[in-house]
Amino acid sequence: MKEYKDWLKPIEESIAVLYKDRDAYGLMDPMEYIISIGGKRIRPALVLMTYELFKEDPETVIEKAIVVEAFHNFTLMHDDIMDAAPLRRGKTTVHHKWDTPTAILSGDAMLVHCYQMLANEKNEIIADFSKTAMEVCQGQMMDMNFETRNDVSKEEYLEMIRLKTAVLIGYSMELGALLAGANKEQTKLCYDCGVNMGLSFQIMDDLLDAFGDQALVGKQKGGDILADKKTYLSLLTIEKASEKYQETSKETKESVKVEKMLALYEEKGVRKETEELMKDYYHKAVDGLNSIGLAKEKTGPLMNLFGFLFQRAF
Ligand code: IPE
Ligand code: IPE
Ligand code: MG
Ligand code: MG
Ligand code: MG
Repeated sequence: MKEYKDWLKPIEESIAVLYKDRDAYGLMDPMEYIISIGGKRIRPALVLMTYELFKEDPETVIEKAIVVEAFHNFTLMHDDIMDAAPLRRGKTTVHHKWDTPTAILSGDAMLVHCYQMLANEKNEIIADFSKTAMEVCQGQMMDMNFETRNDVSKEEYLEMIRLKTAVLIGYSMELGALLAGANKEQTKLCYDCGVNMGLSFQIMDDLLDAFGDQALVGKQKGGDILADKKTYLSLLTIEKASEKYQETSKETKESVKVEKMLALYEEKGVRKETEELMKDYYHKAVDGLNSIGLAKEKTGPLMNLFGFLFQRAF
């Protein structure tokens, strides 16, 4: 059974040749750029590691596993436009390095390319990929709509992160199970496990956006605060200190806004509560993986990956 770290090299090797057939129009340059500047590669790793729960030749499906990484990178290219983000993986975002029209078009082409790569797969694989992609769009729409609302409920927040982030982590595990020929029940358990890990993953992403080290995270510190994103941190702050939150969110000087909001988070103790919620979903994911009923030697590497994601600093 291979560990997460064992997969990184083969995954990088497959990614390196993904956009090798360059067109003459420069459309593929941003694709190659965004996917080559880093990333944890957890989604293809999840496909391969879930596959290995059920079948012994995961090396044979690396090219299929890469599709979820390509799709993820497409969502990042467009997400950075939506979030007005200057920095991704420690580098300039595509729409800043080129321009917004190029980032839109190159992202579109990146998505089309994902479908080209899936063209010969079983119906179920393609249909569930499409369902996932549509849900990600819905989640991203909710995420943006919430920027101008101060009455977002915790249930709405959880639904938003389920859609924008967790379903793709769920699909990655589902894809691994489907490619390995797992039965319906096992496949569903893998998907649900991935969704819970994905919820935990996005809550951690929100924590890192606020409290992480920019040099490690590679994204502008406090980007969510600047965009008035609704995270569990901001929801709890609104619940505990609505007026102070609104006053702080009106601050026009960017560095002051981030500094003041982080101080308010600290003062209201919302970090701890958010970490607790993240932990709850991590435990649900662990329980979910155990519920498949496989030997500990089989599930060990995935458990280790979950543990890494739960404690990560980037
Ligand atoms: C960032 O995903 C976007 C979210 C869904 C939170 P990752 O944290 O997996 O980003 P990379 O691929 O490692 O850069
Ligand atoms: C990302 O959410 C979700 C998708 C890209 C679909 P974020 O906006 O929090 O991701 P980062 O923090 O920019 O990576
Ligand atoms: Mg976003
Ligand atoms: Mg973003
Ligand atoms: Mg984020």
